[in-house]
Amino acid sequence: GSWYDADIDHVIISEEQIREKTAELAKQVSADHADVDGGILLVCVLKGAVMFMADFARALGNHGPSIEMEFMAVSSYGQGTTSSGVVRILKDLDRDITGRHVVIVEDIVDSGLTLSWLMKYLQSRQPASVEVVALFRKPDAVKVQVPVKYVGFDIPNEFVVGYGLDFAERYRELPYVGVLKPEVYARS
Ligand code: PRP
Ligand code: MN
Ligand code: MG
Repeated sequence: GSWYDADIDHVIISEEQIREKTAELAKQVSADHADVDGGILLVCVLKGAVMFMADFARALGNHGPSIEMEFMAVSSYGQGTTSSGVVRILKDLDRDITGRHVVIVEDIVDSGLTLSWLMKYLQSRQPASVEVVALFRKPDAVKVQVPVKYVGFDIPNEFVVGYGLDFAERYRELPYVGVLKPEVYARS
């Protein structure tokens, strides 16, 4: 365990559950893209999706087709625990995605504001297709419906951390997803 464990009230998704689900999602995405031209262009949404991107890409590598990786950084939360609805690009794509089969890799769909904005942004660049794989979704927090084709887990509308998800930039390195103890909020 990590020293962070003391700050976690309870685990909601374990490391093993994440591993199994990631393998399932990779199998589906690969089957759906079996004969696309140019393989899959994964677009990781930094920073939250960093863990999932690394594990999902490796899981896809067991199946095919070939993949390339791009990274975007956007921010909608800043330091707070609720979405501001304002999406800022902190780092854009490095390459042209025209004609490419794009799969956006996200850690979580909360209000849906980040993904709704990002899908429109990427679609405006004339890719062959754009789909989303999100490891977590909070159905009770949704403000904008986003067509997320691949979802790992629906989770309760609580503030969760771990596996890329942060509270004030911390806890991303936890290998599982858990709910923070209330006194941790009070401290900061
Ligand atoms: C978090 C999370 C998703 C987004 C989901 O990112 O990683 O990208 O919020 O929220 P939404 O559905 O309400 O838009 P955040 O903006 O905190 O940046 P980060 O990934 O760098 O932590
Ligand atoms: Mn994010
Ligand atoms: Mg965040």
